[in-house]
Amino acid sequence: MIVLCILFFSLVPKKSLGAVDPYFQACSVPKTCGDGQAIRFPFYIQDKQNSSCGYPGFNLSCNNNGHPTILISNTNYTIHEIFFQNETLRVSNSAFSNPNSSCIPSINSISLPGGRFDLAPNQTNLVLFYNCNSSVHESWPSEFYPSCYGENDTVLALSGQDRKLISNVSMECKSSVRAPVDAYGGGIGKSLRNGFVLKWKASNCSICEDSGGNCGFDNIMYHFKCFCPDRPHAWNCPEIYPSCYGENDAVLALSGQDPKLISNGSMECKSSVLAPVEAYGGGIGKSLRNGFVLKWKASNCSICEDSGGNCGFDNIMYHFKCFCPDRPHAWNCPESVLPSNSTRYEACKPTNCGTDPNINFPFYVFGTETDRCGYPGLGIVCNRGKPVYRTLERQYVIQDIFYENQTFRLVDEEFSLIILAFLLLTSSPLNSLSLSSLPMMLNCFSLITARHHFLLVLRHL
Ligand SMILES: *[C@@H]1O[C@H](CO)[C@@H](O)[C@H](O)[C@H]1NC(C)=O
Ligand SMILES: *[C@@H]1O[C@H](CO)[C@@H](O)[C@H](O)[C@H]1NC(C)=O
Ligand SMILES: *[C@@H]1O[C@H](CO)[C@@H](O)[C@H](O)[C@H]1NC(C)=O
Ligand SMILES: *[C@@H]1O[C@H](CO)[C@@H](O)[C@H](O)[C@H]1NC(C)=O
Ligand SMILES: *[C@@H]1O[C@H](CO)[C@@H](O)[C@H](O)[C@H]1NC(C)=O
Ligand SMILES: *[C@@H]1O[C@H](CO)[C@@H](O)[C@H](O)[C@H]1NC(C)=O
Ligand SMILES: *[C@@H]1O[C@H](CO)[C@@H](O)[C@H](O)[C@H]1NC(C)=O
Ligand SMILES: *[C@@H]1O[C@H](CO)[C@@H](O)[C@H](O)[C@H]1NC(C)=O
Ligand SMILES: *[C@@H]1O[C@H](CO)[C@@H](O)[C@H](O)[C@H]1NC(C)=O
Ligand SMILES: *[C@@H]1O[C@H](CO)[C@@H](O)[C@H](O)[C@H]1NC(C)=O
Ligand SMILES: *[C@@H]1O[C@H](CO)[C@@H](O)[C@H](O)[C@H]1NC(C)=O
Ligand SMILES: *[C@@H]1O[C@H](CO)[C@@H](O)[C@H](O)[C@H]1NC(C)=O
Repeated sequence: MIVLCILFFSLVPKKSLGAVDPYFQACSVPKTCGDGQAIRFPFYIQDKQNSSCGYPGFNLSCNNNGHPTILISNTNYTIHEIFFQNETLRVSNSAFSNPNSSCIPSINSISLPGGRFDLAPNQTNLVLFYNCNSSVHESWPSEFYPSCYGENDTVLALSGQDRKLISNVSMECKSSVRAPVDAYGGGIGKSLRNGFVLKWKASNCSICEDSGGNCGFDNIMYHFKCFCPDRPHAWNCPEIYPSCYGENDAVLALSGQDPKLISNGSMECKSSVLAPVEAYGGGIGKSLRNGFVLKWKASNCSICEDSGGNCGFDNIMYHFKCFCPDRPHAWNCPESVLPSNSTRYEACKPTNCGTDPNINFPFYVFGTETDRCGYPGLGIVCNRGKPVYRTLERQYVIQDIFYENQTFRLVDEEFSLIILAFLLLTSSPLNSLSLSSLPMMLNCFSLITARHHFLLVLRHL
């Protein structure tokens, strides 16, 4: 409890709402050199991104072909692909980049800056020999390739596996260079252009990212930083967010996983609500905007639909109906129906609010004379092209409807409008955020994917 209190007083942002930390803002958008690769922490494009957004030595340039390049021991290497999940990247010496040329340029051996980059496992070496004695030429005629310097110049390329052979040949040539390759196949030119894989070492960004921050580096303290909407933090963003209620209000957001922490938090704060979320990742704002998933229970529509009918509901008999071209039937349309004027049939065709998702049984759109096209309690309204589900106190935007497994994703309308990672809460809704405010859902829905719950706690100082 005491810990929570201290956290509370020290972390509540002093600045007024809406003033977003400039570092958070500067590092929030990944950039690209033009080839579509997103450049983000620990890398940054020197001319396009603030150096605080990446690690020292991970500065990149863009070449004329729109590819990022990195300078390692004074040689440009073209970056083909960055695998953030396992912290590797595939690069090749930019001198090999011209796919036109069949000649081999003269290059320097790579020397990796200690501590930052290592060769990934399973890389092999090619050894390139320059200015070799003609006797060697006679022994390995097919391993010689034209050099890019002078028409009589040739380069001998051998696999680096056979050390004895390499050392023999070395004595007969003026210089040699080791060129790592990921795989030796498709010819030496292709292998060299395909390059090799490096593993990098930098702080793991995911704890910061998962809390809604942008990873970066403090060049003065020479240490990793997590840039959060309020200010930079050491490793991750705090779980306390400003509320819309007033400058001195704050909302403490906790994952509902830890009952002890929750009960401590409850005692320290004035009120709390449970907000269901499908997954906790990318910060609380993102999690809330992503919403939660409900499963509905209603009659299976497919037997009616498959027979050519539109599903609906008879509010008087309080029972499922299958609206067929001729008239309503109990479950499905008879095989030969004569089309007549069945307004119900016409009215209950699938529709939408202007954009996805499609509105079909058991949902229906209010106010279009189609209140018998869906289940009671599943009427929705269209608001700015989006289907909105209203309860007595709250409005939820329906993001997706999965008819195949009877689930749909809801996002509290207020959260769906938040642009920043801030949690913006107005004064009233707190007590009504919980699922119990969905009275109509109580008997026909069950919450299926709320693996985590946030405790949103509003405290008035
Ligand atoms: C990086 O961004 C911060 C915050 O906006 C700014 O103070 C700093 O001057 C920037 N640095 C560079 C190199 O642009
Ligand atoms: C990265 O920064 C270093 C030091 O400022 C600089 O020498 C180098 O040219 C930069 N690398 C790239 C690829 O621009
Ligand atoms: C590396 O590539 C950049 C961008 O193409 C260029 O400006 C720079 O001069 C190159 N540096 C070297 C050492 O080749
Ligand atoms: C980074 O940390 C997360 C969570 O601790 C972990 O799942 C992930 O594998 C780590 N990434 C790397 C590249 O080590
Ligand atoms: C890294 O991940 C990529 C993409 O999943 C994979 O192709 C590659 O083999 C992995 N590299 C290593 C060294 O595990
Ligand atoms: C490749 O060769 C073609 C025709 O010879 C030429 O038009 C093109 O500019 C060359 N491309 C490069 C990258 O050198
Ligand atoms: C390296 O090669 C071995 C044998 O081919 C393989 O078992 C292993 O998975 C490879 N390691 C990586 C990281 O690709
Ligand atoms: C090249 O080989 C020949 C015969 O082995 C030898 O006489 C000559 O000195 C060698 N030249 C060089 C530069 O090693
Ligand atoms: C290449 O070798 C041939 C035959 O030895 C010679 O005539 C020619 O001048 C040489 N060219 C150059 C550029 O050295
Ligand atoms: C190395 O050179 C010696 C002397 O020229 C030769 O006898 C030997 O077979 C060579 N070894 C290899 C692996 O080519
Ligand atoms: C359907 O209604 C229209 C106008 O209400 C009428 O002209 C038409 O004859 C009707 N058709 C049938 C098959 O009843
Ligand atoms: C329902 O179906 C959608 C789309 O196929 C899928 O993404 C979702 O994971 C499914 N949900 C459940 C609970 O199976």
